Amino acid sequence: MPVVAPIAPRGFFVTGTDTGVGKTRVACALLRALVRSGVRAVGMKPVAAGAVHDAEGLLNEDVVELNAASTFVVPRALVNPYCFEPAIAPHIAAARAGVNIELARIVTAFDALARQADMVVVEGAGGFCIPLGDAFDSADLAKRLDLPVILVVGLRLGCLNHALLTAQAIRARGLRLAGWIANRIDPAMEAVDENVIALADRLGAPLLAEWPNAPAGALELTLEWLDGA
Ligand SMILES: Nc1ncnc2c1ncn2[C@@H]1O[C@H](COP(=O)(O)OP(=O)(O)OP(=O)(O)O)[C@@H](O)[C@H]1O
Ligand SMILES: [Mg+2]
Repeated sequence: MPVVAPIAPRGFFVTGTDTGVGKTRVACALLRALVRSGVRAVGMKPVAAGAVHDAEGLLNEDVVELNAASTFVVPRALVNPYCFEPAIAPHIAAARAGVNIELARIVTAFDALARQADMVVVEGAGGFCIPLGDAFDSADLAKRLDLPVILVVGLRLGCLNHALLTAQAIRARGLRLAGWIANRIDPAMEAVDENVIALADRLGAPLLAEWPNAPAGALELTLEWLDGA
């Protein structure tokens, strides 16, 4: 079964309807599915806020998870060019640290990863339009990397509006919404099926997976959709 389209993208940009909606889980599940299929795939978290100090510097938990799901371990400076200690909005964390986040540096790191791997799975910070500097945001980063976007919809009250606005923003940048994941982060949410149907009718992109509320190991992605990605 061919799992990579003849002209496969260099990777995917995983965004979400919000912070904490399952982007890391989806990015890792995608990486594991690619790796299982023999694709050399690595994860990248260009900008992370919320980290602890270790011997090498600052370490964010998403970076640990993405590295563990990748085909090979990559130097932290490439996987995560910008890391800040406080778990606050990245451009504010950067300003507090006296750091200017530069798109060029992220693109250079991405290109280095893309030379070593067949695919790079990039996890955005927060939601799609999160500011990264005075004059640019995460959507500008996705555009510079020119990757198809996967949208993780955290199923909770309010997600319809967030999902539809995010899809609009993705397309407004001229990017392709490759698909979306319905992720049941709130086990108490009512009318889940109706919400998923409402989005399936309106998002205009394939529903790649419907994930129940479950431990990380139980949630997987299959790659049939990748043929057309
Ligand atoms: N389907 C699910 N069932 C149960 N828990 C989930 C599910 N999806 C995600 N979670 C949990 O929700 C939390 C947030 O998930 P995750 O870290 O993947 O989100 P994120 O969008 O990457 O967050 P961030 O914006 O901080 O990067 C984690 O504790 C994760 O284990
Ligand atoms: Mg994450």
